[in-house]
Amino acid sequence: MSTPGPVVEARDLRQVYQIKRGMFRPADRLQAVGGVSFTVQAGKTLAVVGESGCGKSTLARMVSLIETPTAGSLRINGVDAVKADGEARHKLRRTVQMVFQNPYGSLNPRKKIGQILEAPLEINAPFSAEERASRARDMLARVGLRPEHYERYPHMFSGGQRQRIAIARALMLNPSLVVADEPVSALDVSIQAQVLNLLADLQQEFGLAYLFISHDLGVVRHIAHDVLVMYLGHVMEQGEKKTIFAQPLHPYTQALLASTPGIGASANVRQRIVLQGELPSPLNPPAGCVFSTRCPYVTERCRAERPALRPLTGRLVACHEAERIAEGTAPLAYGKPALAVAA
Ligand SMILES: Nc1ncnc2c1ncn2[C@@H]1O[C@H](COP(=O)(O)OP(=O)(O)OP(=O)(O)O)[C@@H](O)[C@H]1O
Ligand SMILES: [Mg+2]
Repeated sequence: MSTPGPVVEARDLRQVYQIKRGMFRPADRLQAVGGVSFTVQAGKTLAVVGESGCGKSTLARMVSLIETPTAGSLRINGVDAVKADGEARHKLRRTVQMVFQNPYGSLNPRKKIGQILEAPLEINAPFSAEERASRARDMLARVGLRPEHYERYPHMFSGGQRQRIAIARALMLNPSLVVADEPVSALDVSIQAQVLNLLADLQQEFGLAYLFISHDLGVVRHIAHDVLVMYLGHVMEQGEKKTIFAQPLHPYTQALLASTPGIGASANVRQRIVLQGELPSPLNPPAGCVFSTRCPYVTERCRAERPALRPLTGRLVACHEAERIAEGTAPLAYGKPALAVAA
């Protein structure tokens, strides 16, 4: 029976790290995630995209209960995951499983695949040894591996096969939510497609919700239902994938899409935006809009006032100029766009 309501409901999640710089200096404050809200329903994928350091993994660690948020609320299957402790927290941890970029780092090299898959069952569930083995073998088959793989060690597999093992392990406890942090980024492109197809099949079969972290919009296009675009810890644009890919309104989303092979030319972007300048330090983020130092449409207002995330034509966008960008009338603050793409 499926639970009504979303599998995950995050409201204004924040994570602030205190960075110590020696005994006599006050700690610096680094806001890795500055207020992110979303829901993910069973059977759906929310993709979180953005450049390195924008807070994707920090968000993933909060949602998978590895880190407690500094502020905000998180409900998983309706249970308050921030306040849960003891037995309730233990249960939630089974409900949320993670898949990482580098499966070799997370698979114990001295254990056979069978043991790796059965380990979560030993700790968490009252199964006999035979039942555990039979479930592990079933799962191996389900992720496209062969029965003889049960007796092998992680080093005997290719990268794509190891990621299949990591996915199999994540599913052994029948989770509701899988948080996948760059799960295909280390794989060859041809293997990426196979693993993405597997994830999509498993989602259908088990009704899984995915929080899918990726810097690659080419990958996101294949797997996401919804997209959340982050920059320096803040949400720039958020909504259904088809809406955002068809007409991105935030200049940062436009820049990301325009630079993605195979998408850039088809995205309905009036001007191809090439980002200027460096990514600012999260220890010293720009005043006003965090994207203002690199935005081609920046105005005085953008430098002074942080734009709220607000609804506009079917998605949420955090940009003062979004209406004018949508109409194609936003004046460029500097330079010319590198290339005009037909609207
Ligand atoms: N434990 C920590 N202590 C202090 N700062 C941290 C910690 N973890 C992350 N950060 C900082 O928080 C910011 C966000 O990091 P995060 O790893 O979430 O980014 P990311 O989007 O996953 O990047 P990447 O694409 O490189 O994986 C970065 O500036 C990072 O240096
Ligand atoms: Mg990361």
